[in-house]
Amino acid sequence: MLGDKKNVLLVVSGSIAAYKAADIARNLVKAGISVTVSLTANGAKFITPITFETLTASKCLVDTFDRSFKFDVEHISAAKAADLCVIAPASANIIGKIASGIADDMATTTIMACTCPKIIAPAMNTAMYDNPIVQDNMARLRKYGYRFIAPAEGLLACGDVGRGKLAPVEAICAYILDLLKTDAFADPDSDKYADHETGDNTPEANAGADALTACKDNVEADKAVAVGSDEDTGLKKQDLAGRRVLVTAGPTQEAIDPVRYITNHSSGKMGYAIAEAARKRGAEVVLVSGQVAISPPEGVKLVSVVSAQDMAEAVFEHFETTDILVMAAAVADYRPAEVADQKIKKKDGDMVIRLARTTDILGTIAGKKKEGQFICGFSMETENLLENSRKKLEKKKLDMIAANSIAEPGAGFAHDTNKITIITKDSELSLPLISKLETADRILDAIVAEISE
Ligand code: CTP
Repeated sequence: MLGDKKNVLLVVSGSIAAYKAADIARNLVKAGISVTVSLTANGAKFITPITFETLTASKCLVDTFDRSFKFDVEHISAAKAADLCVIAPASANIIGKIASGIADDMATTTIMACTCPKIIAPAMNTAMYDNPIVQDNMARLRKYGYRFIAPAEGLLACGDVGRGKLAPVEAICAYILDLLKTDAFADPDSDKYADHETGDNTPEANAGADALTACKDNVEADKAVAVGSDEDTGLKKQDLAGRRVLVTAGPTQEAIDPVRYITNHSSGKMGYAIAEAARKRGAEVVLVSGQVAISPPEGVKLVSVVSAQDMAEAVFEHFETTDILVMAAAVADYRPAEVADQKIKKKDGDMVIRLARTTDILGTIAGKKKEGQFICGFSMETENLLENSRKKLEKKKLDMIAANSIAEPGAGFAHDTNKITIITKDSELSLPLISKLETADRILDAIVAEISE
């Protein structure tokens, strides 16, 4: 049986971000957790075992042929002792090895012997991260129950800018502490990991989980002093970690000729706020955006589109690997039936533009929806808000719709505030006039509550 103290096995692989693992180890130790570090041979080229041994007061495991061990069969003992295995930073190489069942050093043999929950925080160059082989390896590991903390976007060590930076240390630690408390240990009715660990739901184990909450508060307080407000640090609850969220935002533009187009007043602010909030809560976010004047939030993958057709194609392409789709974009319902190759010259008298229907993206996606995927639409109305929105919920077979009246002062297009009603098949929740970022969080709260049911 485990004592009160939880054990985390921290595997550090060969990445320039290896130095950040020292902070992960330090924060966990400060939170009252016993940390054992396993360093790959390549990891040891970036940071030395002595750093981890000093921070954790435990021997750092480096290779299988080291004879100065305290356990009989060290990798098995370390694996057995672990309540949680965290691979951070995880290089493309170690992800590939784990996904292929390769265990050729201390780190990979220990991971293979671990039956506890496992978390992977990747860190690598953008092109490597986006490489379909790496993505396939991650998808494979997800199927085996591995959880991922998505990398952030920014300037990478190689000089490239893009996705691949190790997620913020604070977010990784908050996720670990949350998982130790809530998922695997704290819920007395949870048997989620019962097969994997000791099945320890005893009062002692739960008391340990309570102690962790107190420690987590200490770590968070510490960090607030060090780096500023909660909002900026990514210290928000990580309840979307491991989830892939697809958000659409902004208007579409439907070309009439090379000079003119039909569009609407959408600023993209609501969708961008949802993308930002989802990212801060740990999700891997793809933001499909029409042409807007605002910058994308840090850490999200931006797919820039122009027309409703472009948006439809981008959404259909990403939907298959999406857990949660939020369609906040104001998609044109009609486009000019013919687009002139040359600028249309004016003539005397009126002119008529014949319009054709665009693809109803949400209306079409219901047919592609798989078990476990969640779809939230938006509904923009000037009258009969709730009645019309509920009709769209049913007709488009949505799980949720955010009803947005542009008749309300301070709500709708271009404002930084919004006033919406969140509607599902069985519920209706009217929010007050609040910032779009707060609105985004409330929508995500409602989605998280629905998907956890
Ligand atoms: N939507 C979509 N594809 C379209 C039009 C809209 O996916 N071609 C999505 C929007 O992104 C939104 C939801 O459908 O999430 C509702 O959009 P809205 O414009 O409020 O309603 P429509 O379905 O277009 O109906 P109407 O314009 O008649 O109110």
